[in-house]
This record gives sequence, structure tokens and C-alpha cells, in this order.
Amino acid sequence: MMHLAMGPKTYSLLHPIYVKPLRRFSVGKPTLSEEINESTFVVADIDKTGQLQSFWDYLKRTPKGELEGYREKRFAEAMQIAAAASGITINEYLRDNYHWASLGKAKFIFWHCDLSRWAESSDRVTFQAHDFSTPQAVSTDVYVLKTMLHDWPDKYVIKILQNLKPYLEAGSRLVMFESIFPSPDAEGRYNLPSTTLRMLCTTDL
Ligand SMILES: C[S@@+](CC[C@H](N)C(=O)[O-])C[C@H]1O[C@@H](n2cnc3c(N)ncnc32)[C@H](O)[C@@H]1O
Repeated sequence: MMHLAMGPKTYSLLHPIYVKPLRRFSVGKPTLSEEINESTFVVADIDKTGQLQSFWDYLKRTPKGELEGYREKRFAEAMQIAAAASGITINEYLRDNYHWASLGKAKFIFWHCDLSRWAESSDRVTFQAHDFSTPQAVSTDVYVLKTMLHDWPDKYVIKILQNLKPYLEAGSRLVMFESIFPSPDAEGRYNLPSTTLRMLCTTDL
């Protein structure tokens, strides 16, 4: 899904920690690994589990002595802060740049997962906690996926979207809202902040 601008500027951001998983999972293979448990974050093994567990597994795990679910809660709060603090205020952009009115009295499901515990549903809008690696279980007019797909390899994104199929009917809508970054040949023409470039490198690896 995401293009990483791989010019000299970007390579210079590669810390040795990014090289380790590349060597372990991708060297000698025709393509880079697309497995979510073969990443830099997984190799770092912050909880010292000795297992290859993804970032999402890490969020679900509660270390001894901590409040159950605190990592997921903190992550959800961080997402809200990121949306509010971004150069473009994402929620307002989403509100103002889609013809919501053209959908009439449609009913919506927002896949909001961990945030669903805090978001308030109404008679037309449901914030649904749903594991998107399994088939969608509820029918509605419009499904909204906001910044849900960007950090998944393409093969997983295809599976996630296929999981929506059983409940899609003629006229159903799928609204996806993601950040779009410059393509590799655009490096130099856009001055992305180095923090954004680092985040992109980490996500890709
Ligand atoms: C970048 S956050 C975006 C959250 C929210 N949509 C927003 O825009 O603030 C990505 C979300 O994907 C969720 N996620 C990760 N794995 C998932 C899965 N298997 N099923 C459903 N959601 C998942 C995470 O819990 C997280 O909330």
C-alpha cells in the first residue's frame, strides 16, 4: 500500500536495528517479507517473550502488575491525540472532504476496534469492534475504515477487504480513509519531516 521514498536521504535514516530483521527474514529471498511477525518491532521483543509476536499482540499483552488492557487504551488515546495534533486535523478533513450528504439516510459502521469502547454510537452510526482477520458479521449501508489499512502488507489488506464481502449488497459503500505519501521518484520535491520519514521506514520494515 505504502511507497517508501528510498533515496540516499532515507537510507541514512536506517538504524542498525532495521537491518537485523532484513537479514533474518528477507536476505536470500526474492521479495521482502510481508509477514507481520517478521518486522523490526518483533525482533526487538520488548517483553522478552522469545516469540515472534506482532505489534498488535504486544498491545494485547498486559505485563504483570499493570492494569489489564492499559497498552491498548494508551494506543487508542495516542491515536486520538495524533488525529488532533496533525498538521491536517484528520477528523475534520474526513468530515469536510466526502459527500456524506449524498449517502442520504444510510447507516454506517466505523471499524474503530479498540476505540469502540470510548466512541459513542447512535441510531445511524455504529463504532464496531471487529477482528478484521475474520469475516464481517453485520450488514449495513456504509462501512468506514479510517487509517486501518496503511500498516498492513498488501496480501493482508486484500484478505481484510475480502472479509467484508459476505455482507456487501448492491449499493453498499466502503469508505477508506488513508494518508497518501509521495511516490519514490518524488523525493526532494516534497519536504517530509524527518519524523514522518522515520515512521515510514519503521512501518515498511
Ligand atoms: C492506526 S490505528 C487507527 C485507529 C482508528 N481507526 C483511528 O483512525 O484513530 C489502527 C487500528 O487497527 C486496529 N487493528 C489492528 N489489528 C486489528 C484486527 N485484527 N482487527 C481489527 N482491528 C485491528 C488497531 O487496534 C488500531 O486501532
